[in-house]
Amino acid sequence: MRYRGIIFDLDGVIVHTDRYHYKAWKALADRLGIYFDEEINNRLRGVSRMESLDIILERAETVYSDAEKVGLAAEKNAEYQKLLEQMSPADISPEVLGTLGALKARGIRLAIGSSSKNAGLILARTGIRGLFDAVSDGNNITRSKPDPEVFALGAEYIRLSPEDCLVVEDAIAGIDAAVAGGFDSAALGEAAGYAKATYTLARFGDLLELCPG
Ligand code: BG6
Ligand code: MG
Repeated sequence: MRYRGIIFDLDGVIVHTDRYHYKAWKALADRLGIYFDEEINNRLRGVSRMESLDIILERAETVYSDAEKVGLAAEKNAEYQKLLEQMSPADISPEVLGTLGALKARGIRLAIGSSSKNAGLILARTGIRGLFDAVSDGNNITRSKPDPEVFALGAEYIRLSPEDCLVVEDAIAGIDAAVAGGFDSAALGEAAGYAKATYTLARFGDLLELCPG
């Protein structure tokens, strides 16, 4: 299969902001006295901010109102954005940078497909916005992964149909979203080995073999 476009998840694929999400949720959970660990954190990958909060609150003894939940999500996001302030172009690994540059040089259209409302901020801080032809993120979707909306819009923005695109993901919810949208997918990190993924990548740079241009 020759892919004409690649839609990349951002958190956990291009940048390791997944560890900042974890820290910020952990700070909130600790303050509220709610048990939270890496395993629960893995269920938050690819999932929207409010849905992530609902997963964390599964272990809460208190029932929070919708207004309180909005406040808790804002508290987490403020902590997360504080952590994002540390980010710079040095947070993009030479492997990711080199691979994206080589794929672009092969004429493959590149897009971001992220559930995050902070995607623009992260791309700006790391200086890589210019490498992507389009960004589909948490600001333009109504349903988060595993719904395929974010990838369907990404493909539309780069004027390709799903069958011409490959989705790259580290989240199970993200691979499910790719399958639901009719996309082939390449799994990394936490999603590596997931049976529904079309491929598993041992490393990001392996995309160069999958996408010869
Ligand atoms: C996804 C992350 O990319 O974005 C999730 O994998 C996160 O963990 C989601 O909850 C929403 O992010 P944000 O930045 O809008 O809170
Ligand atoms: Mg991810």
